[in-house]
Amino acid sequence: MNPQMPPKLSLPGVKQVIAVASGKGGVGKSTVAANLAMGLHMRGHSVGLMDADIYGPSVPLMFGLGTVDPKTTAFPIEKYGIRLMSMGFLVNPEQAVIWRGPKVAQAVQSFLAQIDWGALDFLVIDLPPGTGDAQLTLCQSAPLTGAVVVTTPGEVSLIDARKGVKMFAEVNVPVLGVIENMSYFVDATGTQTPIFGVGGGLKLAEESNVPFLGELPIDPRVAQCVDTGEPIVRRHPDAGVSKAYMELCAAVERVAGGAPSGELPLVQL
Ligand SMILES: Nc1ncnc2c1ncn2[C@@H]1O[C@H](COP(=O)(O)OP(=O)(O)OP(=O)(O)O)[C@@H](O)[C@H]1O
Ligand SMILES: [Mg+2]
Repeated sequence: MNPQMPPKLSLPGVKQVIAVASGKGGVGKSTVAANLAMGLHMRGHSVGLMDADIYGPSVPLMFGLGTVDPKTTAFPIEKYGIRLMSMGFLVNPEQAVIWRGPKVAQAVQSFLAQIDWGALDFLVIDLPPGTGDAQLTLCQSAPLTGAVVVTTPGEVSLIDARKGVKMFAEVNVPVLGVIENMSYFVDATGTQTPIFGVGGGLKLAEESNVPFLGELPIDPRVAQCVDTGEPIVRRHPDAGVSKAYMELCAAVERVAGGAPSGELPLVQL
């Protein structure tokens, strides 16, 4: 074994560990991760969400939470039935974390190894953008079932998403599929208008020989839901984008092989 390679951590109570990744920043990874976690919970699973973005954590904001006193708080923190862990619980997002690579890797590993996630059907991991050391270390040390790669439809995002797919191939982590975000905007008449290009997600899935997991429309309520701290699938389950997120959840269940084990009823799609 390569001596540089971090040891593989085991999470015995966790059935499936799903990373949400993209090569490029700002394509909607964190929103996908939050709504995937929330949607899987709504479909009856026990779910955790780990924010591996140490420099730019977004999980606390998306769940209406902020920093806490680690001396008096037990991690993970539960909200809407989901177990959450993020650097943003420990450090205010305005205070830049100026750690170097090894310390970042250490923090991510301690989130995995030292936090008692308990029994989970799914642990969703929101990866930071890019395909650098931090992402590689995590992919090598976390017991990943597979990864969902997020891209927007345009060529620029695609170039970086391709690097993401390649990174997972290098570390032998299966890519469960590609999801295309911000595919089109639906106006009041129901007309779909592509804003950021067409077809990139499907193209990437086809050329990488992995499933295409669907398209997510642009909906301003996605961003508004960040301000109110409640994922859109929970806040506006009837929105088109929420239905698309729920379909993504069903697709992830299928490709990751998880069956609902909780008491909540299955959402009819
Ligand atoms: N389908 C959508 N419709 C409208 N807005 C969206 C959609 N998906 C994401 N957004 C918005 O786009 C912005 C970027 O999303 P997000 O933070 O999830 O991206 P990211 O890939 O995690 O970014 P980073 O690389 O910085 O971690 C956010 O303001 C989010 O609310
Ligand atoms: Mg993010």
